[in-house]
Amino acid sequence: MPETPDSGPQRIALVTGAARGIGLGIAERLMQDGWQVVLADVDGRECEQSAASLGPAARAIALDVRDEEQVREAIRRTEEWYGGLDALVNNAGISDPHSGPLEELELADWQRWLDTNLTGVFLLGKYALPLLRRRRGAIVNISSTRALQSEPDTEAYAASKGGLDAFTHALAISAGPEVRVNAIRPGWIDTRSPDQQQAEPLSAQDHAQHPVGRVGQPGDIAALTAFLLGPDAGFVTGQIWTADGGMTRRMIYAD
Ligand code: NAI
Repeated sequence: MPETPDSGPQRIALVTGAARGIGLGIAERLMQDGWQVVLADVDGRECEQSAASLGPAARAIALDVRDEEQVREAIRRTEEWYGGLDALVNNAGISDPHSGPLEELELADWQRWLDTNLTGVFLLGKYALPLLRRRRGAIVNISSTRALQSEPDTEAYAASKGGLDAFTHALAISAGPEVRVNAIRPGWIDTRSPDQQQAEPLSAQDHAQHPVGRVGQPGDIAALTAFLLGPDAGFVTGQIWTADGGMTRRMIYAD
């Protein structure tokens, strides 16, 4: 295993959906913590740009997580580049939860949500697990508080994330003791650039409704991911961690 100058054996992470948003925030944080990171995304061009912006310890792979052959190849290339894998972060997803009224939802669209948000996680897990077992690695799946609560017309997204939560605890039992598997349920995360956030700020009410007093940022999810992948979480597996500023703990009834 290659050694880094100051932090011992180099740890390798693969983050899907890392071209932007939460995935890019996770890649950035892991690199700050000394990880070597492979950014994978269906948007190959933006993924290349994002990896380049993070510096030489980041590499990009164009990857559609729904495509078994592409997943197999992405894992093969990661092993070829680095000789192994310590962490898999399944973040890629169709992040728009609104699929329209169920009576009008086409089967192909339902399957697009499920294939991207759930089947992709199965495929990545299937091909990454042998490598992760060798290094006693860890997996973090990015779910959603929409696995727990809903707005109208979000059945496909909610079902995909509910399935992801169940997949997470099932795999934790199968993959142990070598590999730990956890999931994070983000609440509302503002993934717009700092410039955009400044130009068009969210309302005071948007922030104040959260028990912590603010909407989330990608760094909030990245910090929890870094913890769950690291040695301090060595006794933690099969758990679904809600990171939503407390929103799912607030009871809301109309007066
Ligand atoms: P985003 O839409 O900004 O980023 C998603 C990334 O996934 C994009 O770069 C996209 O190109 C990539 N992607 C989409 N389909 C793909 C595929 N088939 N193969 C590979 N890559 C693909 O979304 P955001 O907000 O950063 O969300 C990331 C994850 O966090 C998603 O799983 C989303 O469901 C989840 N999440 C986001 C929340 C939020 O408020 N932003 C809240 C709860 C969960």
